[in-house]
Amino acid sequence: MNKDNLKQFFTHHYEVLRPFIDTYRVESDIIVDPFAGAGHLLRLFEDVETFAIDIDPDVEPDLVADSFVDIPTFSNPLIITNPPYSHRHVLQKQDPKLYELVTAAGYTDLYEYSIKRIIDQLWPVPIFALIPENFVASRTTKLRKELYDHVRAMQIHVDSTCDDTTQPTIMVYLTPEKVEHTDLWLDDKFKEKVVIDKNGFRPDLPQCENCVDFGMKPDQSQECLDTSILLQATDGGSEQNRIKLMRVYDRFDSKHFHNKISDRAYIQIVPHFPMTEEQIQTLIVEFNQWIDDWRESTHGLGLTSFRGNIGGFRRKRLDFKLARQVINRIMADQITL
Ligand SMILES: C[S@@+](CC[C@H](N)C(=O)[O-])C[C@H]1O[C@@H](n2cnc3c(N)ncnc32)[C@H](O)[C@@H]1O
Repeated sequence: MNKDNLKQFFTHHYEVLRPFIDTYRVESDIIVDPFAGAGHLLRLFEDVETFAIDIDPDVEPDLVADSFVDIPTFSNPLIITNPPYSHRHVLQKQDPKLYELVTAAGYTDLYEYSIKRIIDQLWPVPIFALIPENFVASRTTKLRKELYDHVRAMQIHVDSTCDDTTQPTIMVYLTPEKVEHTDLWLDDKFKEKVVIDKNGFRPDLPQCENCVDFGMKPDQSQECLDTSILLQATDGGSEQNRIKLMRVYDRFDSKHFHNKISDRAYIQIVPHFPMTEEQIQTLIVEFNQWIDDWRESTHGLGLTSFRGNIGGFRRKRLDFKLARQVINRIMADQITL
């Protein structure tokens, strides 16, 4: 059995989950992990019978089975799991059959399919699921659209819970009953009640007139290009090197655009009208303040995950759609001609 294909990263640091689970768990006769691996999550339950299912006999589960199709029925169970994750593009190479299944179901990641298969087979049942924080943070998660009003509570993990992946994770507690609010925890501390909707934590910004282009267009005036404003749309490898607006020459050895600055990490922002130095500075300062405040107020869940967690710094990406909305709003409020 190929361990890479099975996504055998185990929840080595499970103690952080204990206060969260103890706060919400309902009484049940048995705790079941349908993707149990070496059973780390089941160690959190000392007072009740547990049952481990895994497709890999080498991890010595109570039952060897394919949980995508074959989870047995239990009386009054509670489910806890850290299912296999894998973006479907990775599956396409590693496991074309599974790629087809995940894609046909409309999901982009295997974790979404895994949770859906548990629900299809066992619902209504309470589920603790350790899943990528992109369940909330990504703009386009199908599983969130299906389950957002069943998330009774969620716990963000500042440090990685697994030694073998840096994918930022949350634990969500899904209940069969619909909920109006979600309790949000940061590690072992309850923080606040929040509302997650179909779109996750997208900000509610007013629609403003579009005042900028992203990247070079054939008819841009030299004057506008000369404003040379650069968006770094992804976090770098340290807390200081984060998403921000700056001048092109603060990052590159060039006053204007050059072909290094047209990818998902960097893009030149070209206004539709020439801006004064003062206006440019206002835009940069206000944008950078907004993005830092937004990151903090949403505990990072307002921005998509990008390339994992470096020592507690959960790296993020800002999509161009949101970047454009924020820039246009600042221009409308502060930079009228
Ligand atoms: C990410 S690991 C998590 C293990 C454990 N829940 C933990 O948190 O430590 C996912 C586990 O799912 C198992 N798995 C993968 N596909 C499976 C399937 N179709 N049915 C059952 N188990 C599967 C893998 O063998 C692996 O042990």
